[in-house]
Amino acid sequence: QFDHEGLIHAISSEHTMFTEVLVALVVGGVIYFLVQKSKRHQLKSEDGWWGEGTPPDKEEDVSIRPYTVRMDNEELQDLYTRIDQTQSFPSLEDSQFTYGFNSQYLQNVVSYWRHDFDWRRQVEKLNKYPHYKTNIEGIDVHYVHVRPKNLPEGVTAVPLLMVHGWPGSFYEFYRMIPLLTEPSNPGDIVFEVVCPSIPGYCFSEAPHKKGKWLEVLTRDFQQFYAHGGDWGWIVTTNMAQLEPKIIKGLHLNFAPPSKPGLPMVLSIMLGRRFPKMFGFNEHDIQRIYPIVQNLVVESVKESGYMHIQATKPDTVGRGLNDSPVCLAAYILEKISTWTDHDFRTLDDGGLTRKFSLVDLLTNVMIYLAASSPPCASTRRTLARVLTMHVPTGFACFPNELMHTPKLWVQQKYRKLKTFTPMARGGHFATMEEPELMAQDIQNFTKMQEKRKK
Ligand SMILES: *[C@@H]1O[C@H](CO)[C@@H](O)[C@H](O)[C@H]1NC(C)=O
Repeated sequence: QFDHEGLIHAISSEHTMFTEVLVALVVGGVIYFLVQKSKRHQLKSEDGWWGEGTPPDKEEDVSIRPYTVRMDNEELQDLYTRIDQTQSFPSLEDSQFTYGFNSQYLQNVVSYWRHDFDWRRQVEKLNKYPHYKTNIEGIDVHYVHVRPKNLPEGVTAVPLLMVHGWPGSFYEFYRMIPLLTEPSNPGDIVFEVVCPSIPGYCFSEAPHKKGKWLEVLTRDFQQFYAHGGDWGWIVTTNMAQLEPKIIKGLHLNFAPPSKPGLPMVLSIMLGRRFPKMFGFNEHDIQRIYPIVQNLVVESVKESGYMHIQATKPDTVGRGLNDSPVCLAAYILEKISTWTDHDFRTLDDGGLTRKFSLVDLLTNVMIYLAASSPPCASTRRTLARVLTMHVPTGFACFPNELMHTPKLWVQQKYRKLKTFTPMARGGHFATMEEPELMAQDIQNFTKMQEKRKK
């Protein structure tokens, strides 16, 4: 038996300056090697075909079809049968959420799901906004498109693309959409919002080929703003790199260092001693140091899912597709831990402190209704070496999975116009703190629009 805990403990108890410098050097060296290696690859925008077989000879069908979320009775009954067949087992005593989703609490969630959760009502809520599907280079892409209801005379809506991440969905944005399309403050920008489902997720078709990301919905607008966190960060950043002229501004709430260089390595090595030199505040210091614990041990502990999904998605995908309870546990465990790492020590994973079970299960049901196991074999194709010259705004939430101080964001996003340290919130900030996020998008967009005039 390999003693993981012992190893982690041994590593983490070595907090000497020496180890940290050594780790920083090794990490820096590896990053430098990877950067040099990938410098040869340039990101190019190309037309492609991601559908089944070979592209058809006839014209592509680019029509936009209205779409309604639905699940028929038979499917729903089948789902309930499978939920009822789940077999519980006791989690280790006092393990709370440290070994994954606590089994006892999972029974509470299942009970709520079966007796109180009203999927029909949630479907109505989902269909409150118009959904569409359109075919892009061989695959069907789903999106929600919300136009402002009461646009004052002479005012034009500003288009905004919002891209969800994993294990979220377009539903992440449902509380934020009205704040953006019907802002209460008269001076605010009125947005027109498009939220696609990333290909392979939810109601968008999965690419039938191994391949790179597909560009999402550039057909409707000449120019627009884009917002993303998690995968949405990669999708929107790639778009801005492929088509910098189309994206007027990029707003992000997640941007782990993707263009690390000397300044970042130096900041890790010397930041604790000379915080001012690197613009580090107290929160930065607290999140970064001790390096081994915060940047290495925590990542190793929490990224097991990523290795599985990146390498053997079909195996785990089958299980998640078959068992709705397993899928719920898989998704909601991430929502708990990524909202606040300290939630791992709570019996109920702190889930209902920030979210309602209705909303959480709605997100799970979207994956189930679409029967898309939440781990399509997607690979990151972020153009790591390229710097970004599209104006960028960054919302820095304190409990974000990977804390990114301003200096690190600036390494890649050279036109960082706003950087807002937020009062509260974690990885799923659009769901957790929709008001704060909407405000930050307003502030960033106002600044950009003013500049244009
Ligand atoms: C947005 O700007 C307003 C006015 O300057 C400010 O009061 C508010 O704190 C800002 N909000 C965020 C989240 O950046």
